Amino acid sequence: MTIQPLHETPDNPLIAGLERLPVHPTTLVIFGATGDLARRKLLPAIYNLAHEGALPERFNLIGSSRSDMSDEAFATQAAEAIRQFSRREPDETVLKELLANVRYVSGTFDQDGVYDHIKVGLDAFDEQAGQPLNRAFYLSTAPEFFPIIVGQLGAHGLTHHDGAEVRAVIEKPFGTTLAEARELNHRVLSVFDEKQVFRIDHYLGKETVQNVMAFRFANGLFEPVWNRNYIDRVEITAAEDLGIGTRAGYYDNAGALRDLVQNHMLQLLCHVAMEPPVHFEADEIRDEKVKVLRSVIKPTADTVDDIAVRAQYGPGTVGGDSVPGYLQEEGVPPDSNTETYAAIRLEIDNWRWAGVPFYLRTGKRLARKVTEIAITLKPVPHLAFQQDGSVGVRPNQLILTMQPNEGVSLSLGAKIPGSRMRIRPVNMEFLYGTSFMSQSPEAYERLILDAMRGDATLFTRNDEVEAQWEICDPIVSKWEAMPGPLPQYEAGTQGPAEADRLLEGDAHWRAI
Ligand code: BG6
Repeated sequence: MTIQPLHETPDNPLIAGLERLPVHPTTLVIFGATGDLARRKLLPAIYNLAHEGALPERFNLIGSSRSDMSDEAFATQAAEAIRQFSRREPDETVLKELLANVRYVSGTFDQDGVYDHIKVGLDAFDEQAGQPLNRAFYLSTAPEFFPIIVGQLGAHGLTHHDGAEVRAVIEKPFGTTLAEARELNHRVLSVFDEKQVFRIDHYLGKETVQNVMAFRFANGLFEPVWNRNYIDRVEITAAEDLGIGTRAGYYDNAGALRDLVQNHMLQLLCHVAMEPPVHFEADEIRDEKVKVLRSVIKPTADTVDDIAVRAQYGPGTVGGDSVPGYLQEEGVPPDSNTETYAAIRLEIDNWRWAGVPFYLRTGKRLARKVTEIAITLKPVPHLAFQQDGSVGVRPNQLILTMQPNEGVSLSLGAKIPGSRMRIRPVNMEFLYGTSFMSQSPEAYERLILDAMRGDATLFTRNDEVEAQWEICDPIVSKWEAMPGPLPQYEAGTQGPAEADRLLEGDAHWRAI
């Protein structure tokens, strides 16, 4: 299938979508194609790539999942999902062209027939194109199927293709413990080479997360102070106002630490703490991130109580609506000990960061949705102002906001106009929305494109995912062994007061 790009030519050079980088003709197979992630994120992302002309000139899609349906019924379902969840209203012509040749294979992922049918579809697309097309297998199923699918792809000779590349894109969660992650890596790498594997952490596809590196390594201003001599503490927040919605089945087995800290938040920490890579290349960047993760002082059963706090949301009010507590959510056992809030204090034991606390916190049903990194500098060594003028002097704080109101803000002390020397903090701001007048692509657009291009820079490597687990595993096992009930926080608030005990000195959490 060939899709004509609909890309509008921007008059303003600051308005640009995804660059049209060369992508080899590809057939993408989505396992779990009727699932929530495929409907909300993957299919709309594929549509938006088509809309921008960013898909390869020849692109084919095969969906696979348990539900029994025809190719046409799947195409209709996919079109509905795209109309409902795409970030732009779909152009019906592009949508029709995109889904014109879609195939669908139904069955359970352990059935040989599924892979035989997929192979028939893949070969037919190759024949139509008159060349071997690259193949990308996207595993968007429940995690227990990952090893099964990977094993079946191997058993059916689908992991390599003469004259073309084969890639496997694997969703999170990558294991639920360190042992499971190791076992899964072992299974995956027994049939694929590491360079064929793309482990998803969708935060890496976010423009604002990539901007942390641009901000640090493209400006001479910040790097000289980016160390233990000038930085007092780093606070990383990923707060959500939403509850668990209809995901009780997944969430109650996961909890906040596995769901966000083990992956997204540790990636944010790596972006703040890593050394500059020599080149912006997949393995160089990932080498630097792995070094950071290995330098984090590992929690132990003895230290968990000191460095980690967990809690659950109780009933409360969010956005003016009364909402139930976690234990009252549909599908959650009334005696569940799963945390919906986790806060931890980590230390990175290396030359740059020794002694600087990194505070990480995340939670569902907090006051609002905000993802940010707050870097607080040390106070100035001496204040020459009179007592009352000094009151407003605060240490500088640099806030990198991932979402919403994406941007960077630096707090500075400034003189209040008037005859006296009085100081007050003011903000210097950069906002994405006003500097680049375009809507950022969704993380999944970038990631699907990069996986098809074979660029693994924004994907987690095998040793990286295990290093992340090495940090979280001791906390997860300690918490699992501890009796409940968990401390509760009122929905729609700042989270549990208990989290304050992690902070050192007179530090306090930033308001959410
Ligand atoms: C997912 C988690 O990985 O990230 C969800 O499973 C969470 O529970 C989501 O809501 C947050 O992503 P974002 O992009 O909305 O910050």
